[in-house]
Amino acid sequence: MKAAIVYESLYGNTRAIADAIAQGLEGVAEPHVMSVEEAGQTQPTATDLLVVGGPTHIHGMSRKPMWELAVKDALEHPEKGLVPDAASGGPGLRAWFDFLDKATGKAAAFDTRLKGNKLVTGHASKGIAKRLKQHGLELIVEPASFLVDEANQLLPGELDRAREWGKTLGAALSPAP
Ligand SMILES: Cc1cc2nc3c(=O)[nH]c(=O)nc-3n(C[C@H](O)[C@H](O)[C@H](O)COP(=O)(O)O)c2cc1C
Repeated sequence: MKAAIVYESLYGNTRAIADAIAQGLEGVAEPHVMSVEEAGQTQPTATDLLVVGGPTHIHGMSRKPMWELAVKDALEHPEKGLVPDAASGGPGLRAWFDFLDKATGKAAAFDTRLKGNKLVTGHASKGIAKRLKQHGLELIVEPASFLVDEANQLLPGELDRAREWGKTLGAALSPAP
């Protein structure tokens, strides 16, 4: 089985989580991690599982103008230790979903966001999950959030949690007889 993991990432947290999810899927599926920019060259729905994740910005999925300001801020203030990810110049998930064809198949959504009650922080995976369903895909697990601190650094243990979530996805993809 094949799995495509498409991520949007400004500072690299969501990319790191996407890589860890792929590690968890290995053995059950052949995972292919790609930035939303790379995914824009193809229609990656021709897989057994499409996993899509992005950062939470202003309580939901990122928007290009805010994204550009945040990249500018990171470049102008290196003391914050935030390095724009290689994928940070990409089109963003909102534009990508507009480009994506209708599809059938299995899918899952995740995000990275601040630690705290998601009613307060918001969570991008809600919008991602909604768009996956609108495209005709079936969500096989509940959307998941992976958490960062106030300095936008992943909390200890979140990569392990992402690997476990990848295993959960693998189990949902090929349930035991
Ligand atoms: C412009 C901006 C807005 C943000 N807004 C929120 C928010 O509303 N809720 C939240 O939980 N986290 C928010 N965050 C934190 C990010 O979701 C978090 O740092 C995320 O891990 C970044 O992912 P990335 O490293 O893949 O870009 C925001 C970050 C930025 C840069």
